[in-house]
Amino acid sequence: MKGIVLAGGRATRLRPLTLVTSKQLLPVYDRPMIYYPINTLKKSGITDILIIIAPDYSGQFLNLLGSGEELGVNLNYAVQKEPKGLADAFIIGQHFIGNDSVTMILGDNIFDPDFSADISNFSTGAQIFAKKVSDPNRFGVVEFDQDMTAISIEEKPTVAKSDYAVVGLYTYDNRVVNYAKNLTPSARGEIEITDINNLYLKNKELKVNLIDTYWQDAGTLDSLLEAGNYMAKKI
Ligand code: G1P
Repeated sequence: MKGIVLAGGRATRLRPLTLVTSKQLLPVYDRPMIYYPINTLKKSGITDILIIIAPDYSGQFLNLLGSGEELGVNLNYAVQKEPKGLADAFIIGQHFIGNDSVTMILGDNIFDPDFSADISNFSTGAQIFAKKVSDPNRFGVVEFDQDMTAISIEEKPTVAKSDYAVVGLYTYDNRVVNYAKNLTPSARGEIEITDINNLYLKNKELKVNLIDTYWQDAGTLDSLLEAGNYMAKKI
């Protein structure tokens, strides 16, 4: 199993904090944000990791993280020249992924749970995680039938069909690379990870695990502050 941390994007919502650095290098309490997703992968048993970064501040990531040795992981780097969507990570990362399965984590997603069992039990298809939230419209939203079987996933719907947000940790078998290459960009001009999840769902190969442990998408000022406060209390 290979790991990808997607740390591209321009993070305009966090300006001026992100005028001269990347969102994923901002502090979450006592360490740069990207330490958390790297550690989530490491705790899940994934140490061969590709960091995908935007061109502007790529040198800062190299200076901070280097080979990954100090964090106990093996890091590789690739640049995403333009923010073309989350699914673009599998195209950028295709040589790194090779013939393996891959788990991608978003560089601004802060988790507390341990995913090692879910990840070591993965064999084929796709596996995602969802959490009940009060503001589902900000996220990918899972619709369930009466038996809590997932029936659709919608990206940032105006009217959410449930309160379950798709969190930023996704595991796929090797077919994800070809699926990503064949996607049509959405109305916002990006190739969407939600479209990949719906492809696996249509083939009945998508497992949706519900989590009720801590998760934060630290991409807004308030959620960044909340994540820092959570980690401050935890330590
Ligand atoms: C992305 C995904 C969305 C997911 C979210 C989790 O949204 O597109 O489906 O729920 O991450 O953090 P973004 O944060 O890029 O707006």
